[in-house]
Order: sequence, then structure tokens, then C-alpha cells
Amino acid sequence: MEFLVCNTYEEVSQEAARIFEAQLKAKPDSVLGLATGSTPLGLYRELIRAHECGGLDFSRVTTVNLDEYYPIEPTHEQSYRYFMDKNLFDHINIDKNNTFVPNGKAADPAAESVAYDERIKRLGGIDLQLLGIGENGHIGFNEPGAALHASTHVEVLTESTRNANARFFASIDEVPTHAITTGMAGILTARKIVLLACGKNKHAVVQAMLDDTVTTQIPATLLKCHPDVLFLCDNAAYKG
Ligand code: F6R
Repeated sequence: MEFLVCNTYEEVSQEAARIFEAQLKAKPDSVLGLATGSTPLGLYRELIRAHECGGLDFSRVTTVNLDEYYPIEPTHEQSYRYFMDKNLFDHINIDKNNTFVPNGKAADPAAESVAYDERIKRLGGIDLQLLGIGENGHIGFNEPGAALHASTHVEVLTESTRNANARFFASIDEVPTHAITTGMAGILTARKIVLLACGKNKHAVVQAMLDDTVTTQIPATLLKCHPDVLFLCDNAAYKG
């Protein structure tokens, strides 16, 4: 794992954007694995700017998001489909038919999970995967536990995750209790991974990423086994 500390959140976003731009220039029909949450917002702003000012072309790009709350309507303002449309897809020249987010209102979420993994396989796998990290070390919504799931599945969200995400909802009671998430195999089979961690509240989990331990109690530590991970964090996350 390559580890890089930037001074600020803006620098992390710019550095991450450079990697995405280089990926799209090298392979215009890349399959990008994308994340939601606060952390990637700066990167998405940079990519929109690169599209508007530099002509960065998304016309042949396919995207596959990590996760979606369950159950949730795609039109709900806190759904990850809504988030992606509002914060990225509506501002770039991507064909929305080529943007995939798990279906938060699937009648059969287990079947939706199997179909999601099959879709990723059919697409030829993910070229570049973006990840944020939960304060408890989750990636996607793979929550800490004695064991993790390899495949896309329905996950019960921990209290820590629901509390952390309550800031986006009117109250904690409105935060969904479940999510459909890509599993650890879906993440670890991406050819290249960029992991972002910003802000003081990520300090403890950043520390856990910097020793040699791998544990399912901190799912992100499994990334230490992947051959091509760039871990970018800001000073606040690094120094606490
Ligand atoms: C979001 C996701 C989550 C977030 C993580 C960090 O699609 O998969 O793992 O990346 O919860 O969220 P923020 O960036 O809001 O701190």
C-alpha cells in the first residue's frame, strides 16, 4: 500500500482527481468503482471542473457504486443514487444507463446482490475503485465482525455507522438499518484502489491502517493484501 499525506482536504481531492483523470486518459472506457459520503465530494467537484474546463470525457465510462441503503427509494434525497446524480452524474457527459447503484427498492435484495456481482463480472471487473473509510474501519458497508462477506449482500448497519450518517437525516430513527453492499471480493478484485481518509474523526482508523495487522474487525485493513492501493489522507486524519 502506498501512503501519501496531503496538507488539506482540497489537496487530497486534487491528488485523487489526478489519478482518475490519468485513468480516463489511459483507458477512456474505464469501469470506475465509486463511493458516496462526505469524503469524495471534493474529488467529484474536481472531476466536474476537469470536464467543464479541460474536456475530461466520460462518454465511454461505466460506473459501479459500492452500496445503497435498503430499503430506500432512488428518489429519496439520502439515497446514494440521488447523491451520485446530484454530485457527479448530472454535471458530466456520462450516459446514466452506464451508471450502476444497487437497487434500494429491490423486492428481492438477495437476488439483486447476485445480479450486481454478475454485472460487475460482465463488465470485465473494476479498473479503478474509489473508497472512503468508516470511523469503525468499514469499506463499502462491510461492517466489522468476526467474519466478512465476499459477495454483494445485505448488511445490517452498526450503531456506529448509523450514528455517523445521522447527520444527513432529520433524526437517527430515519437512518436505514440495512444496506446492500459490494462484498470484500468485489472490492479486492478491483485492479487499482484509491482510499481516502480526511478529518480528525478518521485518525484512529488511519493509525490502524499503518501497521502490519489485518483483521476483519477493521475491514479496511484487508486492503493491505491488495497489490495496488494508494491511501491518501489529510493532515487532520494523520495527526489527529
Ligand atoms: C459510501 C461508503 C462508505 C463511506 C464511509 C465514509 O459509499 O461506502 O464506506 O465511504 O462511510 O463516509 P464519509 O466519507 O462520509 O466519512
